[in-house]
Amino acid sequence: MRTIRDAELRGKRVLVRVDFNVPLRDGKVEDDTRIRAALPTIRAIREKGAKAIALSSHLGRPKGPDPELSLAPVAARLAELLGEPVRFVPESVPAAVPDGISLLENSRFHPEEEKNDPAFAKRLAAPFDLFVNDAFGAAHRAHASTEGVARVLPAYAGFLLEKEVATLRRLLDSPERPFLAIVGGAKVSSKIDVLKALIAKADTVAIGGGMANTFLGAQGQDVKASLSEPDKEDDAREILAAAKARGVEVLLPDDVRWKDDRILDIGPGTAARYTAAIAKARTIFWNGPMGMFEDPEYAGGTEAIAKAMAAAKATTVVGGGESVQAVEQLGLADRMTHVSTGGGASLELIEGKTLPGVAAIPA
Ligand code: 3PG
Repeated sequence: MRTIRDAELRGKRVLVRVDFNVPLRDGKVEDDTRIRAALPTIRAIREKGAKAIALSSHLGRPKGPDPELSLAPVAARLAELLGEPVRFVPESVPAAVPDGISLLENSRFHPEEEKNDPAFAKRLAAPFDLFVNDAFGAAHRAHASTEGVARVLPAYAGFLLEKEVATLRRLLDSPERPFLAIVGGAKVSSKIDVLKALIAKADTVAIGGGMANTFLGAQGQDVKASLSEPDKEDDAREILAAAKARGVEVLLPDDVRWKDDRILDIGPGTAARYTAAIAKARTIFWNGPMGMFEDPEYAGGTEAIAKAMAAAKATTVVGGGESVQAVEQLGLADRMTHVSTGGGASLELIEGKTLPGVAAIPA
């Protein structure tokens, strides 16, 4: 991918797609991680002399204009972080944009965005000379503001997109071994492809969270009323067989924490086995919590993983929404080699899928 390093930007009008799909509460940004992650690209474009820098993003999944999902509060937070004015443009596809830095309204207020409508992409592109995509979190979406517009304007990657793709590809292509993957979260159905991809690359795969129950069920254990997907037990057995054939060790919980008849976390013995594997690994990828960590009673497993990763002498990569949230809450994000800003996007990259937002940028 060519990047903004390769672009001549002096005097240019630049459209920058960012992923500012951030949580809002009471009209304020609750977590600004994604906004902070875009700052190096915005600053570099400004330092290269661009005349106008207009940022475009989606927020949530609106079905048309929705004042609750306006990006106006995000413009205010961005201005604070940048330490300079950011004009909020109350249109997603304005005919003209002001000089300086501005943020356009939510791109998903128009259904043409998600349809990747070519005429809409042309309208979005019209006021600009150049397009920069820094929205790694939305790179798995072939939408007008991520993919369509890259066909209309000369397109370049921003630093965040470049770093995310390079880090995750390096993890898959040339990991220092042993390579441990830790996969958790509620449902195995959403992680089957990523588990298959990781079994083909990792030395050890540790499984936790609600999805581990389906594996336990596949082995004939009674998980009672716990979250599980009995119709995915065949997939679980297939994954275990593939791991065995490849000599990959799969770690499953052998003690768990119950509430009534539901498993809500891995047990202390399992957490100790998983953290021992972390201490031995040279590369660790983690996606998905080990239990219902929103409740401090059942956060022990997830916290143990986060703390062990922070202490590990290894390349540590955290990918995906909830595990990132856990690491942030514990104040350990800075202790990881890389914390991805993309949930779905990082999983699709690991699954070996082509991300349309990345593919649209010329080499
Ligand atoms: C995310 O939060 O994962 C990205 O912003 C993509 O959002 P989406 O799943 O609504 O396309």
